[in-house]
Amino acid sequence: MSIIETRGLKKSFRSRGRLIEAVKGVDIQVQTGGTFGFLGPNGAGKTTTMRMLTTLMRPTGGEGRVAGYDLMRQPELVRQKIGYVGQAGGADGKATARENLILQGRICGLSLAQARERTTTLIGALGLSELADRKVKTYSGGQRRRLDLALGMVHEPALLFLDEPTTGLDPKSRNELWAELRKLQDAGTTIFMTTHYLDEADALCQRLAIMDGGSIVVEGTPAELKRQIMGDTVILGMDTSHTVLHHAQEVLRGQPFVRSLQEERDSGLRLQVEHGEDSLPVILRLMEGAGVPIRTVSLSRPTLDDVFLKQTGRSLYQQQN
Ligand SMILES: Nc1ncnc2c1ncn2[C@@H]1O[C@H](COP(=O)(O)OP(=O)(O)O)[C@@H](O)[C@H]1O
Ligand SMILES: [Mg+2]
Repeated sequence: MSIIETRGLKKSFRSRGRLIEAVKGVDIQVQTGGTFGFLGPNGAGKTTTMRMLTTLMRPTGGEGRVAGYDLMRQPELVRQKIGYVGQAGGADGKATARENLILQGRICGLSLAQARERTTTLIGALGLSELADRKVKTYSGGQRRRLDLALGMVHEPALLFLDEPTTGLDPKSRNELWAELRKLQDAGTTIFMTTHYLDEADALCQRLAIMDGGSIVVEGTPAELKRQIMGDTVILGMDTSHTVLHHAQEVLRGQPFVRSLQEERDSGLRLQVEHGEDSLPVILRLMEGAGVPIRTVSLSRPTLDDVFLKQTGRSLYQQQN
């Protein structure tokens, strides 16, 4: 069952007389359960899309259903079912984690007793026990992000939206937050998250959509995206004299599993192949049969950055600083 479904979702802004089409008609379907990743460079339109899905911003066109309710006609009902943790987080630095959580519980309609009980549960679940009664402004970035997560979960939402949950965190805090997100996912919460980290998308998400310039350019499982688009890469190190290279290429070119073949500077040949782990032994046998000695071999699977590069002509890493 789809927990998020949109058709032609659009948002444009008017800024100093200019029209900015931030989101240009997005169709997405997210199934219940698991983590759906929304990936793309800065300015792609991820936050704007998420703000529309969470009813914080009214679309200028299109329609959608989120957590069973219509985005335009039933925004209050949508809000009751979802949690949202924005890029900046929403905790009050001058209050403690416990105070922030109790207040949030009251805002969500819990009684004081219920809010206290839920706060205790969340403090335990997110490893905040030792900090719970300290002012939030004394927390590290990772601790603060864990509190932000807790704040988004006070009303036990079935669907949690996270906008770049790990941006700015050190690797250790990132890993800790990933562990929390996996726990949530295992407990049955559906997570919709944006990120511009490819490794994060790879590690956490069962499905991904890549957005660029306000549109979704490709969607699928991380493995599907990589496989469809690239195949695996094999690099063969060999004598780089013209005769040897020419002979090796002649032998390989006719093989059904070879998608492309080119000379690799100073080392030998680069091949894109289907199912690298199966084709590699065949390639080595062919080379042996042809009398071409192979010095080195490498097999690599495409990365999500290769996918992005292929779709947009740019590397995702070039966008960031
Ligand atoms: N309130 C706004 N007014 C004008 N332009 C905006 C506003 N919010 C976002 N934008 C523009 O919309 C585009 C998409 O922004 P955003 O959704 O924040 O991208 P992302 O989250 O992928 O980095 C950008 O060009 C941004 O400058
Ligand atoms: Mg953003």
